[in-house]
Amino acid sequence: MPSVSSSLSWLSVLALLLNAETSLALSKKERLACQKPTSDPLKGCPKSTLLVNAGSSGQGAKNNAFSSIQSAVLSLPHDNSTQYILILPGQYTEQVNVTRPGPLYLLGQTKDAESLARNTVEIMWHNATGTATTGSYDNAYTSTLTIAPTFNSSTTGSGPTGNPVPGDTPFGNFDFRAYNLNFTNDYLPYSAGPSLALSTSYANTGFYHCSFKSYQDTIYVGKLANSYMSKCEIAGQTDFLYGFGTLWIEDSDLLMRSCGGGITAWKGTNTTFENKYGVYIHDSNVVAANSSIAPAMVQKCALGRPWNALQRSIFANTYLDASIKPTGYIEWSASEPRVNNSTFMAEYKTYGPGWNQTGRVEGKVTRVLTEKEWKPYSSPAKVFQFFKSGKSGNDVWVDYKA
Ligand SMILES: *[C@@H]1O[C@H](CO)[C@@H](O)[C@H](O)[C@H]1NC(C)=O
Ligand SMILES: *[C@@H]1O[C@H](CO)[C@@H](O)[C@H](O)[C@H]1NC(C)=O
Ligand SMILES: *[C@@H]1O[C@H](CO)[C@@H](O)[C@H](O)[C@H]1NC(C)=O
Ligand SMILES: *[C@@H]1O[C@H](CO)[C@@H](O)[C@H](O)[C@H]1NC(C)=O
Ligand SMILES: *[C@@H]1O[C@H](CO)[C@@H](O)[C@H](O)[C@H]1NC(C)=O
Ligand SMILES: *[C@@H]1O[C@H](CO)[C@@H](O)[C@H](O)[C@H]1NC(C)=O
Ligand SMILES: *[C@@H]1O[C@H](CO)[C@@H](O)[C@H](O)[C@H]1NC(C)=O
Ligand SMILES: *[C@@H]1O[C@H](CO)[C@@H](O)[C@H](O)[C@H]1NC(C)=O
Ligand SMILES: *[C@@H]1O[C@H](CO)[C@@H](O)[C@H](O)[C@H]1NC(C)=O
Ligand SMILES: *[C@@H]1O[C@H](CO)[C@@H](O)[C@H](O)[C@H]1NC(C)=O
Repeated sequence: MPSVSSSLSWLSVLALLLNAETSLALSKKERLACQKPTSDPLKGCPKSTLLVNAGSSGQGAKNNAFSSIQSAVLSLPHDNSTQYILILPGQYTEQVNVTRPGPLYLLGQTKDAESLARNTVEIMWHNATGTATTGSYDNAYTSTLTIAPTFNSSTTGSGPTGNPVPGDTPFGNFDFRAYNLNFTNDYLPYSAGPSLALSTSYANTGFYHCSFKSYQDTIYVGKLANSYMSKCEIAGQTDFLYGFGTLWIEDSDLLMRSCGGGITAWKGTNTTFENKYGVYIHDSNVVAANSSIAPAMVQKCALGRPWNALQRSIFANTYLDASIKPTGYIEWSASEPRVNNSTFMAEYKTYGPGWNQTGRVEGKVTRVLTEKEWKPYSSPAKVFQFFKSGKSGNDVWVDYKA
């Protein structure tokens, strides 16, 4: 007994130390004070916070505001310092690329940080690839927001392992956070080639009260990426959550704008350590984007399909509307199923009209997990792994209180 309590007190000391380190991060109170509109927008923000104002181009720019988010990002040192950027209301048509390693917080100004519907900032881009009209270039070129240390580390590439990333590529950002921002790629209002709103590789990224909208391949969580999304909205049609890395979605809405491919399409990797790469959707809603399109979608949308046979994807404690196919997941295609005994396309305690036990069993591609099978994946800390070592517990950058 004494040894237990002494190791517990060591744990609390350790927890204190870790908290001291993370106290660099804004507390919720400080963040809300900074996001709140005031006559001096930077009032309540950390001292060095940069200001971005869509309306501030040229003369009359107040507070030395940047007119684009990317120009503010590029002005920051490429080091480990913690940096903050406050973005004033508006539509920003630009690509934003973040390569720096230090913590970076992008904050959207808002009267109500708890309400996604009241977000005032939309960051847009308009690009796609892989069709006769666009021509073909890597998906990486299309994205509205990219967080990755190098261009090559952010590319999708082709084949079972994608584009090779040089072995000496460093990790990119280890604590990127976005609050109350909308990311849109509006190339066309239907699937017409990969059209990314987010691309993240070799980085830890957190998104809170954010929206992501496009039609195909909306969110790319690439190699060695850990991404956490909470209270977000993701709208897409075809394979709109895809990648190689690890994505945890919590308390969010996945909006199906039509049915194509699957919702999730992951490419697993067989590593020398046990990995948990995959996509985990937890405590969320999977629903038709609106009631006008819902009737035509009944039983037509797939939870996912295997981008390669090592796909790992779990929908847990999540509501599924009637759009979901009775089989749940599907094969990649009839001629190329990409399903074998390593394929892990699963559900745990999903519910709603889209859940059909008979259909799942008959379809033979969906695994319905027991509590014991779900346990190894039941929290972000279990699935987010550290760069190189592959150790789990890499979640100090997650804001559980947003
Ligand atoms: C920056 O932080 C990372 C992660 O904590 C660390 O591995 C790296 O050594 C740091 N770099 C510098 C220049 O301090
Ligand atoms: C941001 O996205 C939410 C959810 O789709 C939407 O309700 C809100 O109007 C959007 N705000 C802007 C400025 O685009
Ligand atoms: C998309 O971006 C690529 C790379 O920058 C460019 O070559 C292409 O013209 C753009 N396509 C469209 C449709 O704007
Ligand atoms: C962002 O990266 C993409 C892909 O490398 C590139 O085409 C684009 O010009 C970059 N945008 C900015 C603003 O740096
Ligand atoms: C990026 O990848 C391309 C294609 O694989 C390669 O030709 C190029 O040399 C790489 N660039 C860097 C900087 O590694
Ligand atoms: C419903 O969603 C579809 C697909 O995104 C869109 O084209 C349509 O305009 C939406 N209808 C309404 C009434 O919002
Ligand atoms: C790699 O795949 C083989 C064959 O499926 C499997 O036995 C092995 O456990 C896998 N290794 C890892 C580290 O996942
Ligand atoms: C998985 O393994 C079982 C038992 O070895 C076998 O009966 C089944 O056909 C395999 N399924 C797939 C999809 O390969
Ligand atoms: C399933 O296919 C993948 C990719 O081809 C392969 O690495 C893995 O070993 C296969 N697993 C089984 C059990 O056949
Ligand atoms: C469930 O799936 C089975 C098999 O596809 C189908 O026959 C049945 O109609 C489905 N049940 C409902 C309520 O849709």
